[in-house]
Amino acid sequence: MAKKTVADIDVKGKRVLMRVDFNVPQDDDGKITSDDRIVKALPTIKHVLDHGGSLILMSHLGRPEGARDDAYTLKPVAQRLSELLKKPVVFANDTIGPDAKAKAKALKGGDVLLLENLRFNKEEVIKDKDAKDKPDLRTAKDNFAKELAAMADVYVDDAFGTAHRDNASMLTVPAVMQGKPRVIGFLIEKELKFLGDTINKPVRPFVAILGGAKVSDKIGVIESLINKVNRIIIGGAMAYTFLKSRGKAIGDSRCEDNFVDKAAALLNRATELNCEVLLPPDHAVVRKLAAGAEHRILVGDIDPGWQAVDIGPMAAKEFTAKILDAKTIVWNGPMGVFEIPPFDKGTKAVAQAVAKATGKGAKSIVGGGDSASAIEQLGLQDKISHISTGGGASLEFLEGKKFKAIDILDEK
Ligand code: 3PG
Ligand code: MG
Repeated sequence: MAKKTVADIDVKGKRVLMRVDFNVPQDDDGKITSDDRIVKALPTIKHVLDHGGSLILMSHLGRPEGARDDAYTLKPVAQRLSELLKKPVVFANDTIGPDAKAKAKALKGGDVLLLENLRFNKEEVIKDKDAKDKPDLRTAKDNFAKELAAMADVYVDDAFGTAHRDNASMLTVPAVMQGKPRVIGFLIEKELKFLGDTINKPVRPFVAILGGAKVSDKIGVIESLINKVNRIIIGGAMAYTFLKSRGKAIGDSRCEDNFVDKAAALLNRATELNCEVLLPPDHAVVRKLAAGAEHRILVGDIDPGWQAVDIGPMAAKEFTAKILDAKTIVWNGPMGVFEIPPFDKGTKAVAQAVAKATGKGAKSIVGGGDSASAIEQLGLQDKISHISTGGGASLEFLEGKKFKAIDILDEK
């Protein structure tokens, strides 16, 4: 059943509590390096304001320790949002404290308030499974959610990037707001439609490209995708657990030893299912990872003392060819240590190939911070069919998992 959206309800004169994912990347000085997640929430924000509602926006930023930490303040986000909206955005210095409450109460139709980082409150990230047998944790999470809920008449969820979390603001707040309108925003609506259509009705060949550090993070998605795609391309540090499972020497490359057997089983299962799996045939390797570190290109086995930090040029060429004939592409995760050039070469080659295939008529979805920022750095944003605001969330969607935080919201 389709979920009700903010367009299905009347927000005039209402206080709208809206969960957004403003967890944006920042540089060392706190400067926002990509405002994509803010920009993509604007349609829902503007809809509420244009229809006479007032907005209380709430988000997390990073993973602070459950207490105030100025390194993770949302203040720069309030400023950026104000520039984008071309109107003042009131900022509260706390989340459920006196400042937030007073500022929420003073809102008039068309006003916007952004609360301070939800995760400055440890209750936000209490997991339901941990609270199950611990009544005091359950009560703490519920009480925190009730304080947020009490500020508003309507709940809107447009935080696709956080849809896979059971954070209080995502799941407990709408639970305690039962009886009041609880709907999705336009960003979530769009993400669900695009990802759903792509995975359910793919034009073939359907190619998945997976990278990043950990195999353990991607086991579920690989298990699911080998049943759906024609080909999986694997790069990044996770490739070395797979290469080890095939008996290759991987030197000092990162490896999750307790997942080697699982990796072997996945590769066998893929063969049975006729899903082609590509691993890098060559590698950029270093003795010690650092900017400007001396590196070598090795084909095949990696010598002891060396670790892979990117796919090699042969891999880049082979992966490119295997991407270019695709008609549907999903990509999540970098091919190497993308943040330290020149070890961004493999990731950039993949970004270029995905954009080129899209130009030839493929439908492409890119998720995950590093893959999306490779696309942005190359100025290829307009050459990708859909850049998801979710990394982990888009992976869980591809894995076929349900999002409880969305399930709980009102149906049409
Ligand atoms: C993300 O960027 O992955 C989302 O904002 C969720 O953040 P989290 O992984 O820290 O829960
Ligand atoms: Mg995450």
